[in-house]
Amino acid sequence: MALVTTTDMFKKAFENKYAVGAFNINNMEIVQAVTRGAKALNSVCILQVSKSALNYAGPKYLKGMVDAAVAETGIDVALHLDHGPDFETVKLAIESGFTSVMFDGSHFDYEENVAKTIEVVKYAHDKGVVVEAELGKLAGVEDDVKVDAANATYTDPEQAVDFIQRTGVDSLAIAIGTSHGAYKFKGEPKLDFNRLETITNLLEKEGFKNYPIVLHGASSVDENCVAMCNKYGGSINGAKGIPNEMLRKAASMAVCKINMDTDIRLAMTAAIRKSMAEKPDAFDPRGYLSDARVLIQSLVEGKIKDVLGSENSMN
Ligand code: G3H
Ligand code: 13P
Ligand code: ZN
Repeated sequence: MALVTTTDMFKKAFENKYAVGAFNINNMEIVQAVTRGAKALNSVCILQVSKSALNYAGPKYLKGMVDAAVAETGIDVALHLDHGPDFETVKLAIESGFTSVMFDGSHFDYEENVAKTIEVVKYAHDKGVVVEAELGKLAGVEDDVKVDAANATYTDPEQAVDFIQRTGVDSLAIAIGTSHGAYKFKGEPKLDFNRLETITNLLEKEGFKNYPIVLHGASSVDENCVAMCNKYGGSINGAKGIPNEMLRKAASMAVCKINMDTDIRLAMTAAIRKSMAEKPDAFDPRGYLSDARVLIQSLVEGKIKDVLGSENSMN
């Protein structure tokens, strides 16, 4: 019943074949919707903040809102920096009271990613904060992409083991076919589960049993939400996410953290568009913002039950 690190969350998630939802936050309604949804299903959750969300809301507001949500709901919450681009941002998050940070050095060359991640891990561990890193580049998968081209961006299993051995990072985000945003696939959705399994097996062979893997770009891009946006004036075309069955499969494997931001954005926008279209004379923000909060909470509850499998993980 507190602000915690992800260590115990991931241990239980791996052993019990589920994943913990990591939801991006940047305002009060989203924080309330996610934590109330988690509370309703007795689930732990991760609230994560990107650098641009940190700039938008400010670390003091974000930490204050998360503290309030923990006090209100009594659930275990990890406050995590999402895609920390540099040491400075990591330091700011830790000084602001975050319990977990991601250092995303995936765009650097391999040795530079290793060196920078080591520096972050040392700093964070000294302060009791856990670290997620990333290896491989997320990209959309198209049916006509050649295997070679796809392999070039996917996480290399041998390199993943070397990276974890050398950096001592607590969890690793890998690229197996997911991508950020609402347009993930032009053709059929496809994830490289064999690669995930190979990484897990190699890690286990090298003494990293039950090592937690993270899946970014894991929104399912619900077609009802997209349709609702479009019905009430939006124009979102060709959006496609990761099917729920694939996410569920990943959660039952080594994936212990599933990142979702786009789904929250779509739900919030759909609810606000509908509310404004149906009540053109209303101008109290509490009206449309509470509609958004209700829809996001039901989205989160659906994720916990149908995708993550983390119901009752507070027990
Ligand atoms: O992975 C990226 C997240 O969706 C955060 O996006 O930088 O626009 O807040 P953002
Ligand atoms: P989506 O864009 O699929 O929601 O991914 C979010 C994410 O990975 C945040 O780090
Ligand atoms: Zn991400």
